[in-house]
Amino acid sequence: MRITISDIKADVGSIAGHCRPHPLQLEAAKKVLKEAVDKGTIIDFYVTRVGDDIHLIMTHDKGEDHPDIHGIAWNAFKEATSVAKKLGLYAAGQDLLSDAFSGNIRGLGPGAAEMTFEERPAEPVVILMADKTEPSAFNLPLARIYADPFTTTGLVIDPRLHDGFIFEVVDVIDHKRIKLSTPEELHDLLTLISDTTRYAIKRIFSKNEKIGIAAVVSTEKLNITAGRYVGKDDPCAILRAQSGLPAVGEILQPFMFPHLVAGWMRGSHHGPLYPCCVDDSDPTFFDGPPRLVAIGFQIKEGRLVGEENPDSSPVGEHKPIDYFKGSVFDHARRIAAQIAEYMRRHGPFMPEIVPPEELEYTTRPSVLKKLEERMEKL
Ligand code: 13P
Ligand code: 13P
Ligand code: MG
Ligand code: MG
Repeated sequence: MRITISDIKADVGSIAGHCRPHPLQLEAAKKVLKEAVDKGTIIDFYVTRVGDDIHLIMTHDKGEDHPDIHGIAWNAFKEATSVAKKLGLYAAGQDLLSDAFSGNIRGLGPGAAEMTFEERPAEPVVILMADKTEPSAFNLPLARIYADPFTTTGLVIDPRLHDGFIFEVVDVIDHKRIKLSTPEELHDLLTLISDTTRYAIKRIFSKNEKIGIAAVVSTEKLNITAGRYVGKDDPCAILRAQSGLPAVGEILQPFMFPHLVAGWMRGSHHGPLYPCCVDDSDPTFFDGPPRLVAIGFQIKEGRLVGEENPDSSPVGEHKPIDYFKGSVFDHARRIAAQIAEYMRRHGPFMPEIVPPEELEYTTRPSVLKKLEERMEKL
């Protein structure tokens, strides 16, 4: 059975700062998705959040970029925006940059990660959702998962992974893309993706055509789509696991190292990526540190399966694995908190603050203009 899984996300308002959506917003979104199941447009769904971003995870047979699926997401975000406006939530409708939907949410503000594949008899899927950062924040961990044998031992010892993976990388500024094959082109790949201001991994493919797509990342960049800086595009990624793909444990291992990413307060700082559960994803320290949540489902005939009983649970009501809930990741959180505090001691100085051209807010042009006449030639 060929299945598409879509994670479409947006921030349409939150309680008391850029913290968390109101439960009534999530309810409003669920209602729209439930109706879509009743009409037969989607098979199943799960609505969740990381920080202030609402994620609509949907399974269906319509393929990627389908106007019906994007339309459902748009309507759900519109309904959640209405709730935000009614309750006077902060930044109501923040990521809906247009009043009119034109068949695809790309370019309109929300982000989307979508993948289509032939469902295997057991299909484990991990969804990574990050708040207060950008899509290229996934470059480093994805390189570790799919191209680093010191992370994924399967690349060495499992004949099904031994040939490596193909990475599709996008240049988010020139809107170009390239496919690179690893391990042969690993150094070329790293030359590009180590520049996180410009290159982002979009997709990763197994070299076994029967398996096909392995991972996909949302790479819409709000500050570019809108033609001006309006916010970092908090990213998400969908990763299939096991049986010829990295094991779930190999997927999660890189997040024990809280690497520095761009985002955080006003989208203008560098901070450690903090792995946490959904409930702990409120960004509380300087609007951060940037949060990462990982949830896991099995997919069976398009139905999402968590800990619930699929025969008796209402559609959309799931209990996925919330991977970073466990105490072992306390270690990473403690390190991340230390790094966050260390970085903050730099105040507004680089490298804590992003380079001038990446700032989402800036007073530079007006300050430079004001001081222009007093600037003396050396
Ligand atoms: P698979 O061979 O099914 O991917 O399982 C490997 C595994 O779970 C290692 O932890
Ligand atoms: P969000 O992009 O998560 O809304 O955060 C915006 C911000 O400026 C936080 O300081
Ligand atoms: Mg926000
Ligand atoms: Mg956000």
